[in-house]
Amino acid sequence: MADFDVIIIGAGAAGLMAAATAGRRGKRVWLIDHARKTAEKIRISGGGRCNFTNIHAKPDNYLSQNPHFCRSALSRYKPADFIALVDRHGIKWHEKKLGQLFCDDSSQQIIDMLLAECADAGVRIDMETAIKAIDPGFAVDTNRGSAQAPALVIATGGLSIPKIGATKFGYDVAKQFGHDIVPTRAGLVPLTFTDETAALCKDMTGLSVEAAVRFEKTMFAEGLLFTHRGLSGPSILQISSYWREGEDLVVDLVAGTDILAALKDAKKASPKQEIQNVLGGMIPKRLAQALCAQAGATGRIADMPDRALGILADHVKAWRVCPNGSEGYRTAEVTLGGVDTDGLSSQTMESKRQPGLYFIGEVVDVTGWLGGFNFQWAWASGTAAGMAV
Ligand code: FDA
Repeated sequence: MADFDVIIIGAGAAGLMAAATAGRRGKRVWLIDHARKTAEKIRISGGGRCNFTNIHAKPDNYLSQNPHFCRSALSRYKPADFIALVDRHGIKWHEKKLGQLFCDDSSQQIIDMLLAECADAGVRIDMETAIKAIDPGFAVDTNRGSAQAPALVIATGGLSIPKIGATKFGYDVAKQFGHDIVPTRAGLVPLTFTDETAALCKDMTGLSVEAAVRFEKTMFAEGLLFTHRGLSGPSILQISSYWREGEDLVVDLVAGTDILAALKDAKKASPKQEIQNVLGGMIPKRLAQALCAQAGATGRIADMPDRALGILADHVKAWRVCPNGSEGYRTAEVTLGGVDTDGLSSQTMESKRQPGLYFIGEVVDVTGWLGGFNFQWAWASGTAAGMAV
């Protein structure tokens, strides 16, 4: 049986970061993964350009049963630290919007950078390694033989995109060692409909608007995209992490515009215009037609009393939709819930139940917003564990 100081299961974002960090501290690290290729999620992220961090990342950008848990790791490994690493490797990057940093060329550069860091730190990486059993101690039995180490790091991520290797392995290990799991669900995911909204979305497929989408007290103002399955786009992905089944979302389809004032102005300036053409000057024409029909607004704007304009304005600014669900883990960018943070040290990610056992990255009940926050959590939690093992 081979001996290591640390065995890390999961060669994704968090696992690679933890491996390089521990290796640099002189630890003998074995990083294993059942997939054929390392860090497939990094490769497909950010449309192939990897939104690798967000310069504004702070605990408020994360969902967790304990919103304070992520504070310590995030404050000790900041976006600036990862940017410095990227710069050292000569990777060119740019800010797209809202503090979101992307590679100029390809997300493969981030994978190559992490692999180079691991190689420099003497990390042994074995892919296509299936884990058969883990015994306390920690003896890990795999199809490539067995190994033992005083520290075991679980970095197997969440359940999203099973076709590239996501499994519930991390939750099973957590349960094996007495941890609770906060119920999981798909996050950052398009929403679907079965009511009249479904037909509208189908008719509007491909249209996008700048919208403000609200669920209870949470609101995101970004792009909204109509698809043949329902609603997508950044504002919908963001709110999907907060939305609860059976509840309505309220959508402002003309975010930032006082539409009632605009309609009243139009009534004075061009009274002969048809109402749907007036609205069609503010939002895509097809959508304007559909919303006017839903609100019963027809004919010339001059013939519409202000009260009727008010009803239409409310319909556009507070469009209520009730999703029947989401596209699920098949397309979700993240998994909400996971290993309950109550059982972990926020400083080191070590288990309070089983000394030497660590959980990092998405497998933990910490989920970021869209926009580079999830990778920042992977880097920060990976570094916290890599410094502690
Ligand atoms: P990650 O999923 O990266 O790695 C887990 C590893 O564990 C995988 O290599 C897997 O093969 C392995 N594994 C799983 N089960 C195993 C088992 N049973 N045995 C052995 N190995 C096992 N975030 C962001 O900040 N910016 C972005 O641009 C994007 N874009 C994006 C696009 C898409 C399409 C998705 C699906 C996700 C994103 N994300 C993102 C989210 C981000 O990819 C995600 O949060 C991190 O990759 C999580 O890092 P982890 O290392 O925790 O898991």
